[in-house]
Amino acid sequence: MTDFTEIPVTDIRSNPFRLIGQEWMLITAGTLDAFNTMTASWGTVGHLWERDVAICYVRPQRHTYGFMERSGVYTLSFFDETWRSALEYCGSHSGRDVDKMAQTGLVPFATPGGAVGFRQARLILECRKVYAGDIAEAGFVERGVMEKVYPGRDFHRFYVGEITRALSR
Ligand SMILES: Cc1cc2nc3c(=O)[nH]c(=O)nc-3n(C[C@H](O)[C@H](O)[C@H](O)COP(=O)(O)O)c2cc1C
Repeated sequence: MTDFTEIPVTDIRSNPFRLIGQEWMLITAGTLDAFNTMTASWGTVGHLWERDVAICYVRPQRHTYGFMERSGVYTLSFFDETWRSALEYCGSHSGRDVDKMAQTGLVPFATPGGAVGFRQARLILECRKVYAGDIAEAGFVERGVMEKVYPGRDFHRFYVGEITRALSR
């Protein structure tokens, strides 16, 4: 934790479109004893229900899904370009089969709220789960999106998390 400073979310200077869609993030749920992490490039940040929130989207077949379901807190971690290959690895291998920490060199630590972040991250959003919901077929106005993204009907579950801390390094 020592390398990180807690900052107000309004001080985050990164462009959210670049941050999530292009640079990607790690969604990490569980505790230091037992956690899992996966890469994500779909996500949303903003203001909802009088809270600053981040929304992430996890398909049910991900190993991370079970950890997200069991966790009240979790993190979204963002990295410099030098960690791109680690994020590629965490986005193409499952924690069911491999030890992502051993393979990438990422070093986990417990955030003040009891979630898990990574020492090498440049920004960590610690989140408290406020709402979980499933994308539903009936909701698609643009049906083509549904057909393209969910041919197997494995709809993402989305988690609206109140950002409890933004940690910057
Ligand atoms: C760039 C990139 C973005 C991804 N974005 C998401 C996402 O937003 N939601 C999701 O469920 N999976 C996403 N994935 C796929 C998961 O990261 C991948 O299936 C991962 O291996 C799951 O790991 P796990 O089984 O240990 O949870 C993405 C993968 C990559 C490479």
